[in-house]
Amino acid sequence: MAKKIGIILAAGSGERFGSAAPKQFTKIAGKTILEHTLDVFEKSRYIDEMILVINAAYRIEVENIILRNNYKKLKSVVNGGSTRQESTWVAVSQVDDKDYVIIHDAVRPFLSEKIICNCVEALENYSAVDVAIPSADTIIEVKDRLISKIPPRNNFMRGQTPQAFRAGVIKKAHELARAGSDTTFTDDCGLVLKYRLADVFIALGEESNFKLTYPEDILLAEILFQVRQEHAEEGNYKLDDLKNKVIVVFGASKGIGQVVCSVASANGARVHGFSRSDKVDVSDYVAVCAVLKTVFEREGRIDAVIVTAGVLKIGKLEDRDHEEIVDEININYLGSINAAKAAIPYLKKTRGTLVLFTSSSYTRGRALYATYSSSKAAIVNLTQALAEELSHDSIRVNCINPERAATPMRFANFGKENPADLLDPEKIACATLQVVLSSQTGRIVMVRK
Ligand code: CTP
Ligand code: MG
Repeated sequence: MAKKIGIILAAGSGERFGSAAPKQFTKIAGKTILEHTLDVFEKSRYIDEMILVINAAYRIEVENIILRNNYKKLKSVVNGGSTRQESTWVAVSQVDDKDYVIIHDAVRPFLSEKIICNCVEALENYSAVDVAIPSADTIIEVKDRLISKIPPRNNFMRGQTPQAFRAGVIKKAHELARAGSDTTFTDDCGLVLKYRLADVFIALGEESNFKLTYPEDILLAEILFQVRQEHAEEGNYKLDDLKNKVIVVFGASKGIGQVVCSVASANGARVHGFSRSDKVDVSDYVAVCAVLKTVFEREGRIDAVIVTAGVLKIGKLEDRDHEEIVDEININYLGSINAAKAAIPYLKKTRGTLVLFTSSSYTRGRALYATYSSSKAAIVNLTQALAEELSHDSIRVNCINPERAATPMRFANFGKENPADLLDPEKIACATLQVVLSSQTGRIVMVRK
């Protein structure tokens, strides 16, 4: 049986993206883009081995990534060349003619199992497979800044990766190109066609399998990860693993915080909940430090700090009371900063975890919610920043993004709503505690009905 080998191309320098290190080392949701892509291949049922092609100047970064992840399928890490074509050649030249190769850009981290499956299945009947999607835009042929032709759009598709081959065919194509000094092909299927070595079958790609090319692509990537991870992690962790974990909750007297406390306790955690009503105001740094110290002295450790404290006051900025605004920002934003700063020394000792809360309103500002939503947007940014800053101490920092939930805060602002339309706080509490148990960091975890 042919071995199925994923070749991941990561030797580019990302000129158009323009970050200090090449774009494949940019982090999204707590992991580099390269790691997300390697994860897809590592987990795929259709892939037996991986070859990673890198730029030699970044070998140390790559080795750190490999140490962190312990990929079982990764068989070699080779130095690529100055063009994509050379990088591909370095990898395919190592492979046995009878194997299958699935060549993929490291900077397309949203590759799905379905696309890999489509490619591998097509290789049973074809020697070369490209992945492409229909073009929504009109394709225009241009000469000297003038349109020379507008061909019918239906005849055109946009090529993605992977491109998959029976290895003998792609090796032959590269050998012919090298003999003819062709070195700048950015597309392996293009080479197969040029030398008329095989028909190239089209497997259907997906819009989300896009290539991170420009700086703004990172914004879309962040959001896509948030939506996807919501499903990826569900139910992976057993809440009884919370047994004997020491968990501190700020905002514990009502709403989500209260439910987090009761679910954690029911699963055997040692829970310490604090709230404004028992005189521990999260916006008071000294008070936050004092209670963490007391918990530590009593328990000898703190495994997790969860900040659910929050207030929602709506109204036009023009009409609102200034003191009330300051109070709101202090609780919603400064409170999380206080809890984070005060918790770091304790979480360092346990390699523990910090969980913050944002709101689904953070993605876009809306009239009447100016201070609330912007403070919740700040929490997302804070989560991402701290996840990076604290990764060397193995402290994980994540943030829960719940949909509208049945809480007293919501009822105070909107009156009674149909509970069937609202998210059950218990579901949010379970998701929060799953995050406490998970090994991931920098995630914005959506919780939906
Ligand atoms: N690639 C490679 N070796 C090269 C050039 C590119 O392995 N000499 C890889 C890139 O790392 C990337 C994929 O091919 O995963 C697609 O290339 P592209 O998006 O063009 O990335 P870069 O070449 O890095 O970016 P740019 O063209 O903006 O410089
Ligand atoms: Mg390039």
